[in-house]
Order: sequence, then structure tokens, then C-alpha cells
Amino acid sequence: MTNNDIHSYFTLCQQLIDNTLNNWLPPIEAEPTQLHSAIRYSVLSGGKRIRPVLAFATAEAFGLTREKALAAACAVELIHAYSLIHDDLPAMDDDDLRRGMPTCHIKYGEANAILAGDALQAMAFEILCNYGEHSAQSRLEMVKTLSVASGSQGMVGGQAIDLDSVGQTLCIESLEQMHNFKTGALIEASIILGAQSAATSDEDVLKPLRQYARNIGLAFQVQDDILDITSDTKTLGKTQGADEARNKPTYPALLGLEGAKQKAQELHHASLKALEKLDQLDTSRLAQISKFIINRTR
Ligand code: IPE
Ligand code: IPE
Ligand code: MG
Ligand code: MG
Ligand code: MG
Repeated sequence: MTNNDIHSYFTLCQQLIDNTLNNWLPPIEAEPTQLHSAIRYSVLSGGKRIRPVLAFATAEAFGLTREKALAAACAVELIHAYSLIHDDLPAMDDDDLRRGMPTCHIKYGEANAILAGDALQAMAFEILCNYGEHSAQSRLEMVKTLSVASGSQGMVGGQAIDLDSVGQTLCIESLEQMHNFKTGALIEASIILGAQSAATSDEDVLKPLRQYARNIGLAFQVQDDILDITSDTKTLGKTQGADEARNKPTYPALLGLEGAKQKAQELHHASLKALEKLDQLDTSRLAQISKFIINRTR
């Protein structure tokens, strides 16, 4: 497959997710209008939609259509959107730019930004309960996957470690754990939710998928740290150099830029190795996405 294929695949998935979120999110006219306006502003502001793309690609590897994984894809994207709104708050990273636009709290005020995040988190679980043709058992499994990945031993836990570690030099194991929690957990959940959309519970399949997911999840945050140094604010749509300015523990800070790039390559190769164990599935999209993750420029 050519590189072009993956870009058109992203475009297709982005259109599907954007249209669906546009339909499923409450309209701006619905009370409370300010809150709904803040929610729509943050969710429908672009973004790579990598988590939905992963959910779709995994579901497709099981022979499902993308549409059958829409609940999973939207739910994980809403958790991600909430995590970004809160990540940018003054009490956290204190950023004023996101996806090339003022952050939610700059545009709508801190209270609305906090509440928009809270509401998005609840909406994610509502979507898993309401949409799609999944059995009650599959829905329960999906709610469990997403709640564990979002909580204190997932994304929120990683954010806590991140804020606690500002100005400190973490050992590589602690840095890895922080990254696995704050970013890896939701990436892994995207893939497992894609598999659960296909009602898969076969551990022989889920285990290698988790290995793939853990490697690309970590690679995703390593690349995010690298881009904070090597890219520019316009390309990123967020303030370049923010990690260094805030003394954040990152892979380049610990391993140097070249060491971090090397780490991303190793993780990419490890993810491909994991996919080799899934020879009964067509995992070519997942392989392409792994490559995309370490080569991305924003
Ligand atoms: C940014 O995530 C925050 C991290 C977890 C590294 P993305 O890079 O997926 O952000 P968007 O959704 O494309 O804006
Ligand atoms: C954020 O990590 C991870 C989240 C859980 C949102 P970063 O703080 O590095 O994300 P950016 O660089 O602001 O997008
Ligand atoms: Mg942060
Ligand atoms: Mg941040
Ligand atoms: Mg970052």
C-alpha cells in the first residue's frame, strides 16, 4: 500500500467521525447554550482523530464496517476531547492555543471549560450505552474498557504523575509509566474498543493487539514530546516549546532528541512484531497507522 492510502483513509475516517459527532452532540441552541457552545467548539475543531481511526481500523481487521464501530470511536474521542480541555487549564498546563485556536477556557472561561470536560466524559459513556447494535454484554465490556483507561490508573492517573513530576528528573521506568498512563491507556482502549465492537473476547487475539497498542501508545507520546521541540507553533496548532518552558519530564529531556527518535523507531518495530502474531486478521491498516504515528509532523 502506498503512503497516500493511509492519508485518504484518515480523511475518510475523519469525515465519518466529524459528521457523526456533529449529529450526536447537543445543538448549540439547547440549554445551557454556553456549555453546549463550548463543547462543540472544542470537539469539532479538527484534530487528527487518531483514536477513532484506530477503533475503525481494528474493527475492520475483524471484518466489521467502520459504521459498526462508531459508538466506540466517538466515545473515546470525547474522553480525549475532555482530557485536552482539562490539560490546557491554568491549573494544569496553562496553554492558550489548541488546534490553532484559543483553548476552551480562554474562549469560554475556566468554569465552562471544566464543565464542558465533565459533560463530555459523561457523554462518552452515554454513547456506549445508547448507540450501535451491540449486545448488553458487549456494551458492558466497552464501558469497563473505557472507564479503566480513563481513570486513576489510566489517563487521569498519568496526568497526576505528569503534574507531580514537573521540574524533576524521572528515571526511564517512571517516565514510561507516566506516558503509558496519560496517553497509552486511551490509545490502547481505542483498539480494544474496536475489537469489542466485533464482540471479540478471544485472549489469543486480544493479547497481541494489546502489545501492538502499548507500543504505539507510548510511541505516540514520545513523538508528541519530540514535536514539542522540533516543530513550530503554526504546524502543531499548540505552543511549541511548552514542555521545556514548563520543565516537563519528557523523553527528549531524558534521552536527548536522538535517543527519543531511536526509542520511537524501536516502539514502531515492536508494534509490527506484535501484529505478526495476528496472521488470521488483515492488520495492514494497523501497521500503516503505527508508521504514521512516528512520522507525523503534528
Ligand atoms: C494530543 O493528542 C495530546 C496527547 C495525548 C499527546 P493528539 O495529538 O491526538 O491531539 P489532536 O486530537 O490531534 O488535536
Ligand atoms: C497530554 O499530554 C496528555 C493528555 C492526557 C491530554 P500533553 O500535555 O503533552 O499534551 P499536549 O502537548 O498539551 O497536547
Ligand atoms: Mg499535559
Ligand atoms: Mg499539555
Ligand atoms: Mg505535549
